[in-house]
Amino acid sequence: MTNISKKSTINNNDNVVLLCGKNNSFNNYGLSKPEIDFIKNEISKNDKKSICLNQLHRLFIVQVIDVKKEKYQTTELLRKAASTVHGWITDAKVEAVNIVDADGKAIETLAFTEGLALSNYQFLKYKKERDKEKFSLKSIAIVSKSLNAKQIEELNIVVEATCLSRTLVNEPVNFLTATQLSKEFQKMGKEAGFNVEVFNKEKIKALKMGGLLSVNLGSVEPPTFSIMEYKPRNAKNKQPIILVGKGVVYDTGGVSLKPTPNSMDMMKCDMAGSAAVAGTMYAIAKAKLPVYVVGLVPATDNRPGENAYVPGDVITMYNGMTVEMLNADAEGRMILADALSYAQKYNPKLVIDLATLTGAAVAAIGTSGIVAMGTADERTKNKLKQSGNAVFERLAEMPFWDDYDELIKSDIADMKNLGGPYAGSITAGKFLARYINYPWMHFDIAGPAFLTAKDNYRVKGGTGVGVRLLFDFLKNNA
Ligand code: BES
Ligand code: ZN
Ligand code: ZN
Repeated sequence: MTNISKKSTINNNDNVVLLCGKNNSFNNYGLSKPEIDFIKNEISKNDKKSICLNQLHRLFIVQVIDVKKEKYQTTELLRKAASTVHGWITDAKVEAVNIVDADGKAIETLAFTEGLALSNYQFLKYKKERDKEKFSLKSIAIVSKSLNAKQIEELNIVVEATCLSRTLVNEPVNFLTATQLSKEFQKMGKEAGFNVEVFNKEKIKALKMGGLLSVNLGSVEPPTFSIMEYKPRNAKNKQPIILVGKGVVYDTGGVSLKPTPNSMDMMKCDMAGSAAVAGTMYAIAKAKLPVYVVGLVPATDNRPGENAYVPGDVITMYNGMTVEMLNADAEGRMILADALSYAQKYNPKLVIDLATLTGAAVAAIGTSGIVAMGTADERTKNKLKQSGNAVFERLAEMPFWDDYDELIKSDIADMKNLGGPYAGSITAGKFLARYINYPWMHFDIAGPAFLTAKDNYRVKGGTGVGVRLLFDFLKNNA
C-alpha cells in the first residue's frame, strides 16, 4: 500500500512532481537555466502537460494543470496524467516522491495524488518473484498550503479501501469462497471499526432465504449472509443507509453454463458489488464519518452441481413471493432479492445495491460507467450523479418505465427471473424492485468492475469501482 502523508518543505535531493499552471517561473527549485528553458519549451512549443527531467540525483517532474470547462474533467485528466508519471517513477526506481501544490489547487492535488497511488496497486500474492516485480514507489508526500492533514488522511484511507476492494475481486474462488469472503469482511471490520455478523447456512435456512439457497444448491460450498454495521454515536441519520452487494464468488452460469472464453474466465469478479460495499464500510469507519450505514452481502458461488436449481423450478423467496427460475445464469437477482427484502426490517432512509448483474449493462455503456436506476428522489439521484462525476465513476441512468414490468411476468409464479431479449439490465432492475419498500438505487457495475486491460490508473483486473463514489456521497450528504 502506498502511504500518503503531508510534508512542509522539500530538500534539493527530493524527487518532485510540481503541480502548476503553464506560466510558472520554475525559479525556486534549484533548476539550471537550460533546465528551466527546456521545461518552458516543452510546455509552450510542444504543448506537453507532463514533463520529466531526470537530474540523476532526483526526478523533477512538472505536471501542468490543464483547466477544462468542468472541474471534474480537469481532475480526471490529472488522475490519468498521474498514471503516466507513475511509469517514469517506476522506471527510475524511485521510492519516495513529493507532490508540490504550487498554486494552492487543493482538489486538483488530491486527484493527481489519487491517480498516482491507484496506479501503484499490484496483486502479487501468487507470484513467487513478487519482490522483483514490485513497483518501487512506497510513499507520497504532499507539500501544500491549501490541504490540511485531515483531507490527506482521508485520501489515504479511500485509496487503501479501493485497493482492498480490488484485491478481494482479484482473489480467485479457490481461495475466496463465500465463507472466506465473510472472514475477509470480519478482518476489515476489526481493522476499521465496524461490526460484522455472519449468518451460516443453518441460519440462512432457518430464515428461509430461498433465493440465496436455490443458487447455492449446485455448490458444495455453503452460502453466507454478512451484515456489516457502522453506527457512530454522532451519526447524523437515525434511519440507516443500506448498501447491498452481490457476492457471487464465482459465476459458472450454473446449469445454464457460460462458455469459457471471454465470459466465464473473468467470473471471479462476480462479487465486486460486495467488495465495493466492504471497501466503503472500511473507508467510512476508518475516516469516522458521522453516518449510520449497514452493509448486506448474500454470498455463494453459482455452479451446476448435482442438485443445482434448473430452469422451470419455482422458488419461494425470503419475502414469500415465488419466482419461476428460467435461467440459472440470472442468479444475481435471486440472491439480491433476499437481501433487499431483509433490508426492509431496518426501515432504511435509502438503499443502494451494487452488482455485476448483467452483460446487457456492459453492452449498453461498456466499461466507462455504472448503469443506474431506481426509485430514490431526484435530489438523491442528482447527489449521486455529482459524486459519480467528481470521482469519475459516472452514473448512466436508465429509464425505469412500467412497460418493463410486463417482461418479467410468469405464467405460474409471481415473476420470472428472465426478461425479454432487450433491455436486460432494466428488467433485472425491475425484478429487484419487487423486493423493496423504501427509496432505492440499483448500480449495475458489470462493465467497470473488472478490466481486461489497464486503463490508466484503473489497473487491469479488479478496479474497486463504487468505493470512491459511495465514500464521496456519504461524506457530502451525511
Ligand atoms: N455475472 C453475470 C453478469 C456479468 C456479465 C458480470 C459480464 C460481469 C461481466 C450475471 O450473473 C449474468 O450471467 N447475467 C446474465 C443474465 C441473463 C441470463 C438474463 C447475462 O447478463 O447474460
Ligand atoms: Zn450469471
Ligand atoms: Zn452473476
